[in-house]
Amino acid sequence: MSPETLRVDTEDRIATVRVNRPEKRNALNATVRRELVEVLDALRDDNGVRVVVITGEGDRAFIAGADISEFAERSPLEQRQAMSGRRPFEEIATFDKPTIAMINGYALGGGCEIALACDLRVAARSARLGQPEIRLGLLPGGGGTQRLPRLVGPGRALRLILTGELIDATEAERIGLVDWVVEDAELRSRTMEIARGIAALSPIALALAKSAVRAAFEAPLSAGLAHERDLFVAAFASEDRIEGVRAFLEKREPRFTGR
Ligand code: COA
Repeated sequence: MSPETLRVDTEDRIATVRVNRPEKRNALNATVRRELVEVLDALRDDNGVRVVVITGEGDRAFIAGADISEFAERSPLEQRQAMSGRRPFEEIATFDKPTIAMINGYALGGGCEIALACDLRVAARSARLGQPEIRLGLLPGGGGTQRLPRLVGPGRALRLILTGELIDATEAERIGLVDWVVEDAELRSRTMEIARGIAALSPIALALAKSAVRAAFEAPLSAGLAHERDLFVAAFASEDRIEGVRAFLEKREPRFTGR
């Protein structure tokens, strides 16, 4: 398999998956989403891989969210279709090997949600995180409304989701959104050190531990995710979403009317 939008390297039983669209700040388009699912399938079956690290190419962005240009022409029904089937967020969250987000820059919207779906998050000091969908007349649609409050509590989740503000890595660590903040130049080496420590542990115990922790949230989570998708599609039908997306693409401030 040779993915078009991802780069995959394996070293010391640790697979590093890099989203490779640095010129678009590694935004998640349909190809990236499909290839992430395919690569995770291959890594799941690869006995030589014990830990998966997910990151972005370049030094600007981890993943700057969904590819907003794909929103411009879509109908709500098409958006719903794009959000059905297998998606990287759920594939990562239910992956049976440990996953680490190595956050090397902007982790926004769907990028923050990819990081949230991982088990652990290591951020470079210069990284910035946030759920800015609200500024497009939307809401998080990759699990953020469910996973963010579970990780940082409902108050802090609402702060991020309702304001759309970006926070730096230090603040993200303070609220529990990232587990480690390291100097930019040490991001790769520190992440590999953490991954090597985990790769040395029992893969069976790790898989069972993950499964046990997941069960703590599973019942309400599935209902919440279905609800989130319905609300996302409802937001997608609004004039404000059309305005928000258009304004972004035309590089101007949006004028929301509440319709
Ligand atoms: N979708 C589509 N394209 C995106 C993108 C996204 N989420 N994020 C960045 N890009 C594109 C830009 O449109 C630009 O393309 P161009 O060179 O063809 O004009 C290119 O990536 C570089 O982006 P730019 O804004 O010039 O880079 P920056 O380093 O100054 O700023 C961000 C980076 C991430 C802060 C800014 O691009 C941004 O706010 N992106 C949108 C984030 C967002 O709202 N995500 C949630 C989506 S639901």
